[in-house]
Amino acid sequence: MMQQKYGQITGWGAYAPSNVVTNDDLSKILDTSDEWIVQRTGIKARRWAEEGEDGISMALAASREALEVAQLDPNDLDLIIVGTSLVESLAPAVASYVQHQLGAKDVPAFDVSTGCTGFLYSLSTAYQFIATGAYENILVVGVEHISQFVDLDDRATAVLFGDGAGAVVVQATDEPCGLKGFQLGSDGSQTEKLKLGLTELIKGESSKATIYMDGRAVFRFASRVLGSACAQVLQQAGKTLDDVDWIVPHQANMRILQSAARDMGVPLEKFYINIDQYANTSAASIPLALAEGLNNGQIKPDDTILMVSFGAGLTWAATLVELSPKMVCAESMFELGELVAEPVM
Ligand code: UT7
Repeated sequence: MMQQKYGQITGWGAYAPSNVVTNDDLSKILDTSDEWIVQRTGIKARRWAEEGEDGISMALAASREALEVAQLDPNDLDLIIVGTSLVESLAPAVASYVQHQLGAKDVPAFDVSTGCTGFLYSLSTAYQFIATGAYENILVVGVEHISQFVDLDDRATAVLFGDGAGAVVVQATDEPCGLKGFQLGSDGSQTEKLKLGLTELIKGESSKATIYMDGRAVFRFASRVLGSACAQVLQQAGKTLDDVDWIVPHQANMRILQSAARDMGVPLEKFYINIDQYANTSAASIPLALAEGLNNGQIKPDDTILMVSFGAGLTWAATLVELSPKMVCAESMFELGELVAEPVM
C-alpha cells in the first residue's frame, strides 16, 4: 500500500522570446490600433518566436530553470507532463522531445491538449501521482508557440496571442502543503467556439493550421466560469477568498478579469496580471505569471494561490495551492540573481 503524500512546488522557471511585438507593430500590418487593442483586451505587447526558436526550445529553457531552482537532476524526474497546443507533431508528444533534450533518460512523458487550461489540467494530474505515492518528482510545463498559427488576415485573433513557456517542479513531501482543491470541467457542446483545427490543412484547403474563435461567446463563457470555478474550489477546500493571497488567472483579456473581480467581490489587485506584456500565451500564461511573480517577490514562498483558467473545449480548471516555506531556500538562491535564464519581465 503506497503512503499518501503531498506535493510541494520546489522549482519554477519561465521563458519568453526576446522579440517584442507591440500593438503599433501590428497596426502597420493589420487594420487595427494600439487604442483598440488596449481598450478591448489590456494587451500592449506580446513575444513572438524568431528564427531558431520554437516551442521545444522555449519549454526546455523554462524546464531547465525550474530544475535548477529545485536543485534536481533531470534523471531524478519520475514524470514529465506538458500542457500545450504546440503541434510540433501529433505524435510523438512534445513532452518526449523535452524529456530527451533535458537528458531525463527513460522518464515517462506525455502531453495534455486542453488548450489554455493545459497547465492546470497537467498540474492537477501531477498532484494525483504524488498523492498516491506513485511518483516523487514531476516536471509540469505549459508552453505555446502560437505565433506560428496566427492568421494575419484575421485581426480579431491575430492581436491576442503570444509565445512563451513556464514550468514547475512538484516534489513529494510529508508536510501537508500543496494542492488543497481542484476543479476541472469541459463543455464539449462548445468545441467549435475556439479551435485550432487541422482538417482544412490535411484536406489541402489551407496552407497552415489557424485559430478560429467566436470571441464574444468565449468572453461570456470565461466571465461566468472564472468566478464559479473559483467558488467551487474554495468550497471544496473549506476556504474563502480571505485565505487566498493571490489569484493567478489565465491571461486572456483584462476585461474578463475586471468582470470576474467585480462578480467575486475582490479587488483587481488580488489578481496577478501580466497580460499587458505577454498577451494570451494559452497554456503558458499561468506558469509564466507564477514564475514571474515568484521571481520579482510579489508572490511569497508561503502564499496560498488560486489558479484559474478557461479555454478550448470549452474547458475550465481551478486549483488552490498552498506553497511551502521550503521554497524560501529557492527564493534566496534567486536573490543571488544567478538563476534567471532569460528576462521575462
Ligand atoms: O484563451 C482563450 C480564451 N479566449 C478569450 O478569452 C477571448 C475572449 N474574447 C475576447 O477577449 C473578445 O471577444 C475579443 C477581444 C476577442 C474581441 O472583443 P469584443 O469587444 O468582443 O469585440 P467584437 O468581436 O465584438 O468586435 C467589435 C468590433 C468589430 O467591428 P464592428 O463590426 O463593430 O464594426 C470588429 O470587427 O471591433 C472590430 N475588431 C477590431 N478592430 C480593431 C475586431 N478585432 C479588431 C482589432 N482591431 N484587432
